[in-house]
Amino acid sequence: MLTNAPIAMRMGQINALAEKTGATIIPADATSEEDLNNLVTKSVELLGGKLDFVLHSIGMSVNVRKGRHYTDEKYDFTTKGWDVSALSFHKVMQSLYKNDAMNQWGSIVALTYMAAQRTFPDYNDMADNKAYLESVARSFGYFFGKEKKVRVNTISQSPTPTTAGQGVKGFDGFISYAEKMSPLGNASAQDCADYTVSLFSDLTRKVTMQNLFHDGGFSNTGVSQEVIEHFSE
Ligand SMILES: NC(=O)c1ccc[n+]([C@@H]2O[C@H](COP(=O)([O-])OP(=O)(O)OC[C@H]3O[C@@H](n4cnc5c(N)ncnc54)[C@H](O)[C@@H]3O)[C@@H](O)[C@H]2O)c1
Repeated sequence: MLTNAPIAMRMGQINALAEKTGATIIPADATSEEDLNNLVTKSVELLGGKLDFVLHSIGMSVNVRKGRHYTDEKYDFTTKGWDVSALSFHKVMQSLYKNDAMNQWGSIVALTYMAAQRTFPDYNDMADNKAYLESVARSFGYFFGKEKKVRVNTISQSPTPTTAGQGVKGFDGFISYAEKMSPLGNASAQDCADYTVSLFSDLTRKVTMQNLFHDGGFSNTGVSQEVIEHFSE
């Protein structure tokens, strides 16, 4: 089952992906409770049973798109971006929870970024959205664990050249810096997919309410030899 906002259906390659994976597409705006309830109930109906895993992979800042600096936010933009990027994760999980749509020992994952813990100036209000998203994973993870035996985690991914990624100012320089700071190098989109699958598998059944760094070691590196050499005369 694949989904995206109705207006995004013409962009990207969701149709090609659906064809390749034999998935059905159900459009849903992740800010709309009605759309999400439809997505959840139709998915259960079409798959013929409850869900084993759900991935939230949504992010968008209107302030970033409109070039508004963090110190000059337009709060209508901030609210919209928060609704799309952060509150939508709560809405998705509330819909799954109320419809009792998850199988026991199922797994819910959302993608996030380390700007939730450390400052990356150009990440703008998305940093605050990611902090909220990660908190929702912990808070809902408690109730999903207790009541339904379902785990909820966030994966904090390396910078990755995607549509959203490239929207961040100075992204190319930043991605090269992250590559040089990470002992294993940046985690690619394919690496992220692989790690996500591991969290959906039965081999990680007791991992929940965690923010898991998937970044080649970047988050625990103070400085790397390459960066020192870059600044040495
Ligand atoms: N690219 C990076 O460097 C990077 C790093 C860490 C985490 N992430 C996270 O990974 C996730 C995926 O981002 P991406 O880099 O693939 O960018 P992307 O722009 O390709 O994906 C974001 C998706 O969200 C969808 N979306 C936007 N508004 C929506 C709505 N109202 N309802 C439903 N869907 C909506 C968009 O159509 C798009 O498909 C995001 O949570 C992002 O923050 C990205």
